[in-house]
Formats: sequence, C-alpha cells, structure tokens
Amino acid sequence: MIRAGEYDRALQTAAESSLTRPTRAFRRSLRDRIKGALSPGSRKRLPPIDRWVEQSAVTLLERRFPGPGALNREIRDYFVFRPGHAEHVAAMGLASVIRADDAPVLDLGAGAGHMAAHFCAAGIPVTAIDQDFFLLLIGRLIVAPEARFVCCDLEEGLPFADQFFGATICVNTFHFVRNKAHLLGSLGRVLRQGSPLFFCALRQSHNPGAFRNFALPPSGYARLFEEFEPRFFSTDDVVDRYLDGDGPRPGDARVPDDLLRATFVEIAGHNGGHHRAGRSFDQWPHALGTLGVNPVYQPVPSGDQPGIQLRLSPPSELFAADSRHLLERLPAETYLAPEILEDLEAGRRSDAMQDLIRSMVLVQLPPGYSGQVEHNGPA
Ligand SMILES: C[S@@+](CC[C@H](N)C(=O)[O-])C[C@H]1O[C@@H](n2cnc3c(N)ncnc32)[C@H](O)[C@@H]1O
Repeated sequence: MIRAGEYDRALQTAAESSLTRPTRAFRRSLRDRIKGALSPGSRKRLPPIDRWVEQSAVTLLERRFPGPGALNREIRDYFVFRPGHAEHVAAMGLASVIRADDAPVLDLGAGAGHMAAHFCAAGIPVTAIDQDFFLLLIGRLIVAPEARFVCCDLEEGLPFADQFFGATICVNTFHFVRNKAHLLGSLGRVLRQGSPLFFCALRQSHNPGAFRNFALPPSGYARLFEEFEPRFFSTDDVVDRYLDGDGPRPGDARVPDDLLRATFVEIAGHNGGHHRAGRSFDQWPHALGTLGVNPVYQPVPSGDQPGIQLRLSPPSELFAADSRHLLERLPAETYLAPEILEDLEAGRRSDAMQDLIRSMVLVQLPPGYSGQVEHNGPA
C-alpha cells in the first residue's frame, strides 16, 4: 500500500490491526528472542506466547516484576518510572503549546507510549510509532490504550499521507536513527504547514557519556534542522521553566555551541509559519488524567502516622544522574494524609492535593499502572 502511494489506507490498516494477535511467524521469533533472554529454569515454564505477551506487559508495570533475567533492569526502570524522569518532564514542557486542533500528533520512537498517554489525557489524538512491537504492545495494553500505534522503522520514511499530522514530538530517539536527513525529509512531507515539532532529550556527540549512538554535535543538528528554524534549549532550563509553571520562552533558547557539555539537547522548530512561544500552563501538564503517586517516591515507615510517608528514591544511579536537576527541586520527603489517599483511590481531586501536584509528588499515571509502583531497592 505504501509503495502504491496509498498512505491513508496503509495508516488505517496499520492502526486498526490488532496488536494483541501477532502473526504465527512473529510469535515464533518473539518466543525465540524471549527464550534466549531467560534462564534455563524459566525457559521451561514459558507459557503460550499470546498469554506470555499479555502477562509480561502487565508484569512490566506491576510491583511483582520478576528478578534478574527477564528484562534488563535499567530498561525496565526507564519505562516504568518514565512519569518521574526529567526527559519526560522537559518533553511535556515543550509540548505544552500543542493544541487539540493540531491533531493528530505524531510521536516518533514512542517506546511504551508515555508521551502518547500524556496527549490522550489532554484530549489530543496521537499516533505513536516505533519499531519495537513489544513496547507498542505495552503502550496499547497499559500505558495509552486510546492512542493509535503503528509499528514501523524510522529509517524507512514515514508511512503516512502528505500533511496528515499537525505536530510531532520525538523523545530520546532521533540519535538512534542513522539516516536523519531522510527522516526529516519524510517528516516535512507528513506535517501540515505551520506544524510545531519538538525533538527532545537528544543526545549530542560531545557528551562523553554512553549511549551516544548516532548522535551529532549541536552544530550538526543545527544544520540538519535548518529548514525548521530550530531553537535549542538545555533540558535543565526547560525543567526549571516547567517547575515554575511555564513552557520555554524564546529568551531561554541557546546558541547550539552553548550546549557542548549538555547530556541532552532540546530542539523546537516548525514546518513553515512561526515558533509558538511557551506560556504559563492553564493546568499542570503532568496532572492531566488519572493521578497517582510519582513512582520516584517510595513509601517508608511512618511510625504511628495514619497516612503514608514517602521518600524520593530514584530507581538507579543512571536514572538519578539523568534526572538530577529535576530531582534536586522535588521534596526529599513528603507525607500523604489518609484523606488524600482516599481521594486518590476514588479518583477524586481535592484542594489539599494542589501542593502535591505542584511539587510533582502526584502525577498522571497511565491507566494500567496498578497502585504504587515499587522498585527493587537502591541501585
Ligand atoms: C530510549 S527509547 C525512547 C522512547 C520514548 N520516546 C520515551 O521517551 O519513553 C528509544 C525508542 O526509539 C525506538 N527506535 C530506535 N530506532 C528506531 C527506528 N529506526 N525506528 C523506529 N523506532 C526506533 C526504540 O525502539 C525505542 O522505543
């Protein structure tokens, strides 16, 4: 369909096909992949693949996540604790100028769909694309059931009709793509005139840390994005603005060479038209939808108090390092009174929650998160 230029029909077919019923060939290859990652004992107990896929998707976000072997812990934490990660907060800050009439939004390299869940909570239809079927399945089953998911490779160009989308976001993904110019060309085609675009948590090649993949220097990104008139921001600046209740302002933009020491850079551009200036939030972007306890907070003994005492405890050193600037601005300890717990349980909001929302102790949790998400203890 794509080769025949029938982009609309391809999109519809891909979006409507049932992700919960993978083909037999896919099931076989997935089973082989999973078997390779399991210890010999658990290999024997591997249930039929359909059930395994569903169970593992649920287990991934549950407190009883199995010990070593099933999935790399860092990857698991990356997705499970996403609502409390600085990259996610910065992405929500930049995306705060996206409106319902920009729909549908295209989320490039959507992973398990956390930004897609954010757009769904804001009532903005979103199409989340990624090459990893398993992550999309988790997105579909747990994180953002209302989003549309399309499994495709960003190296291949985008399988959608011309001018189909009104905004795009790409979080912590573009540096994985080899053929960046090809992807941006394809993006220019599928975006409507004037669409905003945001490339967030973009690794840059001057950063000596790991995971550089195919990262470019900031000046390389500046050349590549030239036709989209890119503005560059540091993640920490965007996070600071966010915690003050604002999207990034034009004056926050940096020249690319200012960001040579940054782990990540944030880019805002547009496909024709002009930049939209960040403004004060009408509502906290992280508190749309269903509220729960930010997973970076873990319960600690609270003595005789009837509520729950929480302590800021990021799940790993890598997570803490990547989110340091954000975590330093959140309360180290806090207390949830029984009335707040009751309201959370009942899905009610109360005035008493406002401070906890502002300080990001309470955040939107994806619909399939079950209660408090626990991690395996300090890294
Ligand atoms: C670090 S994750 C980020 C996921 C999500 N954006 C988030 O912030 O949670 C990077 C994602 O890029 C996807 N990815 C990498 N290369 C890709 C490609 N060529 N085509 C499609 N997806 C790709 C991976 O499968 C993965 O889900």
